[in-house]
Amino acid sequence: MPSPDDELRIAMAAHKAERFEEAEAGYLRVLEARPDHAKALYYLGLLQFHRGDTATAIKFVQRCLNFARTNGPAWNTLGGLFVAAGRKAEARDAYRRATIVAPAMGEAWYNYAICLRDEGDAEGAIDALRTSLAREPSYSRSYEALATVLYQAGRSQEAADIYREWAEREPQSAKARHMVAAVSQRDVPSRAADDYVRELFDSAARSFDANLGKLNYRAPGLVVEALVREAQSVGVSSAEAYAGLASVLDAGCGTGLCGPLLRPHAVRLVGVDLSSQMVERARARQCYDELVVEELSTFMRSRPGAFDAIVSADTLVYFGALEEPLSAARGALTKDGVLVFTVESLPETSSQDYRLETHGRYAHTERYLRSALAVAGFTATRIEPATLREESGEAVSGAVVTARRA
Ligand SMILES: C[S@@+](CC[C@H](N)C(=O)[O-])C[C@H]1O[C@@H](n2cnc3c(N)ncnc32)[C@H](O)[C@@H]1O
Repeated sequence: MPSPDDELRIAMAAHKAERFEEAEAGYLRVLEARPDHAKALYYLGLLQFHRGDTATAIKFVQRCLNFARTNGPAWNTLGGLFVAAGRKAEARDAYRRATIVAPAMGEAWYNYAICLRDEGDAEGAIDALRTSLAREPSYSRSYEALATVLYQAGRSQEAADIYREWAEREPQSAKARHMVAAVSQRDVPSRAADDYVRELFDSAARSFDANLGKLNYRAPGLVVEALVREAQSVGVSSAEAYAGLASVLDAGCGTGLCGPLLRPHAVRLVGVDLSSQMVERARARQCYDELVVEELSTFMRSRPGAFDAIVSADTLVYFGALEEPLSAARGALTKDGVLVFTVESLPETSSQDYRLETHGRYAHTERYLRSALAVAGFTATRIEPATLREESGEAVSGAVVTARRA
């Protein structure tokens, strides 16, 4: 007969292979022999979570902790289970316990800080994130979170220092490199690097819709409204009167928030985006005829004359120089095709055409927009000021640009 520890190893292998029933039977056999077997209780809890039963998972991990009070990772897991169950105060307390029993565990400090931040305690979050980095400097999520909380609290200089520290520690991190350029204004790239965009949006994909919902995000509605107005005003493609557009591209489609708004106006709707995780969510909406994971200028260059209209909501803010995407868009449009996009505004008094702002996105002057459109072969029909969304309680001012292939 196998020992409880052998039995546990076999059950864990079955668990890993997602043979949940076999794994559960194994864990239960271990617990029959040793009801206080903390590891078996822990993994039985995780198994319930993997099956979708978070409430039972919490009970097993709590039982595990009755026998393993100083197990930091188990307190940390309990915190995560409480987060998944929406029990925020209990999550915070569990993470706090993890930091007490395992003070060197950067991840526990990070998770505790995120709870504090979400409760509105920015100072507490900043302290906990600084502790996370002091105790475990390699826990890189804490750099980004700390710099963001500092920036949101108006402490931009301290945020800049943290980005620099992060970039020094992890020169390979595209996010750290991008943000150092943003805060120092040195070596500013002409557009956000592909790996930065992928890193940023692959990790943001899961919470993107919920987060932007909270920020009163308006870009998709604004671009589609402008597109329909422009298409109706002249008639596009071969249609005599506006009866929809034969082919529309959503450039930087993200999770597909523009999709349901565009669908009634497009016979064929195509989306392109660099982030595979964002595209996966767009796919789940089932309103695009084609979705492609690719850099948008490269994609548009590969489809000459393919689209009657191209929309790009909150995406050209990841480009400083607009010559390349605008020229690629012109090539991908049919004769008289329409291009609609949003940008964030840089005051006309600026000596620069565009600027990488400290939040990591670019802002453009209207003067530059007009000249870049003309150079690329577009007539700017309208550049309308608009509030695109809020950030740190402030309205983000931008413009909705409607242009036609000249
Ligand atoms: C803020 S999101 C907006 C998504 C969507 N348009 C919306 O309004 O919900 C910006 C999107 O642009 C994509 N993106 C940024 N630069 C890109 C590039 N060069 N090529 C393709 N996609 C890009 C990002 O991956 C991200 O999904």
